[in-house]
Amino acid sequence: MGGLFVTFEGIDRAGKTTQARLLAEALGDEAIAVREPGGTAVGERVRELVKDPEVEVGPEAEALLFAAARAELVASVIRPALEAGRVVASDRYLDSSLAYQGAGRGLGVEEVAAVNRFATGGLEPDLTFLLGVEAGAAAARAGEVDRFESEGRALQDAVLAAYERLAEAEPERWRRIDADRPAEEVHADVLAEVQSALAGTPA
Ligand SMILES: Nc1ncnc2c1ncn2[C@@H]1O[C@H](COP(=O)(O)OP(=O)(O)OP(=O)(O)O)[C@@H](O)[C@H]1O
Ligand SMILES: [Mg+2]
Repeated sequence: MGGLFVTFEGIDRAGKTTQARLLAEALGDEAIAVREPGGTAVGERVRELVKDPEVEVGPEAEALLFAAARAELVASVIRPALEAGRVVASDRYLDSSLAYQGAGRGLGVEEVAAVNRFATGGLEPDLTFLLGVEAGAAAARAGEVDRFESEGRALQDAVLAAYERLAEAEPERWRRIDADRPAEEVHADVLAEVQSALAGTPA
């Protein structure tokens, strides 16, 4: 498969949505931006469900809902775009499930990975940015408080620790970026990494 699959990960308000959008804008027609969960009719419904503080859902069902949304997005949007040779900039992907459901909810990273291998047919990102920002600084940024954020610092800390372990385990895929800087500066670093990946040479 051609193209380049780029994902953005990090705790709530690290700047994932902003950076996925800036990357896709910078690359123009060559790229698309998608968000998770979302990007398809099923995915947007799942998004409403899992973010709603009024909707109670157990950890296993939560993991399966995210995986269902991801299956649909991969099959109907991400794979076709990659096959057409485009860059896909995804605001969250599989690693979010490993960090939030696998580690944060205690389901087990390997268990959640297995469900997601089925959901995605094993599609993994070429490049994953870990947007690092201190939890207090992220919380101070403007944004809507969703169900995950409202659970407070303990979940955010567990998620961050899980991201660190995932990045350590696969250093060739992950790029850690200091996201505690103006968005345009973060974007410049992201774009440089993506351009060097497109050129087939390490930065
Ligand atoms: N580098 C930055 N410095 C300061 N503020 C930023 C930066 N990047 C994004 N923001 C602002 O912080 C808020 C959160 O950014 P964004 O929505 O991109 O984060 P996110 O990681 O997608 O958050 P969420 O997990 O809630 O979806 C927004 O109001 C955005 O405008
Ligand atoms: Mg976002």
